[in-house]
Amino acid sequence: MADKARIAVMVSGGGTNLQALIDAQNSGLIEKGEIVLVISNREEAYAAERARKAGIETHVVTRKANGGQEGFEKVCMELIDSRDVDLIVLAGFLTILSKDFVTHYEHRIINIHPALIPSFCGDGFYGIKPHIAALERGVKVTGATVHYVNEIADGGEIIAQKAVNVEEGDTPEILQRRVMEQAEWLILPVAVAKICRRIVKERNGRI
Ligand code: GAR
Repeated sequence: MADKARIAVMVSGGGTNLQALIDAQNSGLIEKGEIVLVISNREEAYAAERARKAGIETHVVTRKANGGQEGFEKVCMELIDSRDVDLIVLAGFLTILSKDFVTHYEHRIINIHPALIPSFCGDGFYGIKPHIAALERGVKVTGATVHYVNEIADGGEIIAQKAVNVEEGDTPEILQRRVMEQAEWLILPVAVAKICRRIVKERNGRI
């Protein structure tokens, strides 16, 4: 019986959350999971470089090269299914996936969002934008959320959250960095480790 859950990570940008996952795998925190596949939907994403450096099978799959969203998702599905992936992690993946895609992998896709859902989330709130909105609204606390992905943008079941203080004089970039350091890079690997343990236990019929 396979002793590790097989993880695919989907990325679009710098890949610091992917790096946190790679580091957690190397340190043994994710002891029941293995990242077997990284898919970047952007040609220039540094995340893909991080994955290659870590020796992980990496593919750049763009909408443009595959005739739009449907073609893009079809290629992703083929890759994911042919590698027997158990868990899909959206780690800085900045495109909304279709209802067909998320229902195909029900309860098997998780996402990290850079705010405390239900604040500053949903369509259009990605990357730096939740931090701009948080500063504009004047909140004193923000944070990050790990959640399951369903057909509603940022609407799936919440798995973990961590609050981070907003400080006097914060810019969106400073706040983004603090939320990453104090929340995202911590809660995402822990959530992945926990889900992988559960997947392996279930597979081995111990619960
Ligand atoms: C992270 O802050 C992540 O939470 C956010 O994009 C950034 C990617 O950074 N994701 C979203 O906004 C998803 N809606 P990274 O590429 O360095 O991990």
